Amino acid sequence: MRTAHGTNIGAGRVNDDLIAYHEARARGGVGLTMLEAASVHWSDTGTLRIHDEAAVGDYQHLMDRLRPYGMRVFQQLGHLGLGGVPMDGSPPWSASAGRTPLGAPVHAMTVDEIAEVTDAWGRAAGYCRAGGLDGVEIHMAHGFLLQEFLSARTNQRTDQYGGNWDNRMRFIWEVLRRVRAEVGPEFVVGIRTGAEAVDDGLSEQDCAEMVRELEAAGLIDYVNVSYGSVWASHKIMGGMIEPAGYELPTSEVVTKVSHLPTIVTGRFRTLEEIDDVIDRGIADLVGMTRAHIADADLVNKTIEGRVDEIRPCIAANDGCIGGLHRGRMTCAVNPAVGFERTHREEPADPPRHIVVIGGGPAGMEAARVAAARGHRVTLLEAAASLGGAMAVGARLPHRSLIADFVAWQIRELERLGVDVRLRTPGTAASIGDHDPDAVIVATGAIGGTIPTEAPARAVVVDRHGGYEALGIAEWLLDHGSEVAITAAGDLGERVMLDGIVRPTLARLTERGVEIRRGGEQVMSDETVIAIEKRPNDDLIGAIAALGVELHMVGDVTTPAGHLDAIHAGNSVGRLV
Ligand SMILES: Cc1cc2nc3c(=O)[nH]c(=O)nc-3n(C[C@H](O)[C@H](O)[C@H](O)COP(=O)(O)O)c2cc1C
Repeated sequence: MRTAHGTNIGAGRVNDDLIAYHEARARGGVGLTMLEAASVHWSDTGTLRIHDEAAVGDYQHLMDRLRPYGMRVFQQLGHLGLGGVPMDGSPPWSASAGRTPLGAPVHAMTVDEIAEVTDAWGRAAGYCRAGGLDGVEIHMAHGFLLQEFLSARTNQRTDQYGGNWDNRMRFIWEVLRRVRAEVGPEFVVGIRTGAEAVDDGLSEQDCAEMVRELEAAGLIDYVNVSYGSVWASHKIMGGMIEPAGYELPTSEVVTKVSHLPTIVTGRFRTLEEIDDVIDRGIADLVGMTRAHIADADLVNKTIEGRVDEIRPCIAANDGCIGGLHRGRMTCAVNPAVGFERTHREEPADPPRHIVVIGGGPAGMEAARVAAARGHRVTLLEAAASLGGAMAVGARLPHRSLIADFVAWQIRELERLGVDVRLRTPGTAASIGDHDPDAVIVATGAIGGTIPTEAPARAVVVDRHGGYEALGIAEWLLDHGSEVAITAAGDLGERVMLDGIVRPTLARLTERGVEIRRGGEQVMSDETVIAIEKRPNDDLIGAIAALGVELHMVGDVTTPAGHLDAIHAGNSVGRLV
């Protein structure tokens, strides 16, 4: 099953792109899906809005398409509270006045506003039922509105909605009763809960107590447990530093008290891993959300014994979370996400001979897609192994999951019969020998690599804005250097919102790394390790002179990150 995840693919509506995204996963063998947290009221914009009857027709359309696959579909209904923003841009609504994690002011809801939002929750649940969905899930996790009322950390009210536990529970009771009254006793109504993962925030024991009470009242049908909050978002969707099952120690405190079906989640990628969770009796269902973003066919490939073909999620969070922050969810390793209707690997007509120069992420992706379409593909790589910048990245501390994707690309090239030539630089002469119909140059960038040795005192100067500077600083630290980091702008500015930089920065600071803000600053006795990349494009002139169809992809055009490289490689693989 897949837990709810904001995509903004439909920009607020269940449109054809969002349907195609979920349809691909239904076809791929998923049994149950929660649709992304939908906003129920104008005071929360959300990435999907269930504010009026228009939603009913949208859902009917969705379910007409999904029903044949047998995948059950629940809608998560939420209100992001201080983690969101009203549609008119006014301050976010919450239990008490205060500040958002980014420091913006918060509006304390009046009793009338609470009643209005409660009613909106009920109506939204009614639209879900009328639209033919199988259930709804009330979002009371992640430090959003209902949890803000329950958590004493964010609820300082002195009226009937604040103070003691029962008062702080009141909004939750009212919403659940209103929803149940709207949809009746037979329709599935579940909840999502989970500890806030901050000091003095709502704990897993608090969540367990809440579940006990709601369950005893017979108001809910299942319990879905998550972890983290707007105050610790890196715990909601743990990055590659977190092991599979990282949420279980807190989640099982909650699942243990429940007699209802329970759901847990947390960086699971294989059915084997989740079988283990089920066998240990921790939960009845296990979510695999990012794993299914990365590969829609995960379940079917597993059942068919094609586990090696599953494209692995690397929990870099730059496509899903980073994409959402940029406006729309995507996936670093799966460029088709959200574009299932158009990103097709059509059979090549006619098949041609394609030579790819450079076996990094862009070159391998271009070669893979071109070969999958039926082209004959030769890949020339100057180094003794494939992987390029991603193989380098995988050597940085806590980044080894990146190697799983490199290994997958290598396996796919082999499966698809790509002729890989290692230790073979793509020179004009060697390309001429292959007599290609088209050449794809993916020679990457120069710079941004791991130093050969660690100096006593190093200052890492970030001129690139990716993860490299942070990773190399941590590598230097592991190798005995005293380390400072400085940047022209913000450190890791291009990956800042992916939920990855924050835990790394915290780790580095804890280990004594000095973070210098306000521009590049270097002390006299420090060895400068400058992280910058320039296109490795010296070959282009000579190749262009061959007069053959020529494409350039990845860092050789614009030194960026693995997401851009993989996506560009994928595009050209579909184009040639
Ligand atoms: C892009 C993205 C958006 C998410 N949005 C939601 C959401 O709307 N509601 C929710 O309860 N959880 C949300 N989550 C958290 C996931 O449901 C899930 O708990 C988390 O990704 C960990 O599971 P995984 O490791 O299987 O991906 C989101 C996660 C991602 C990656």
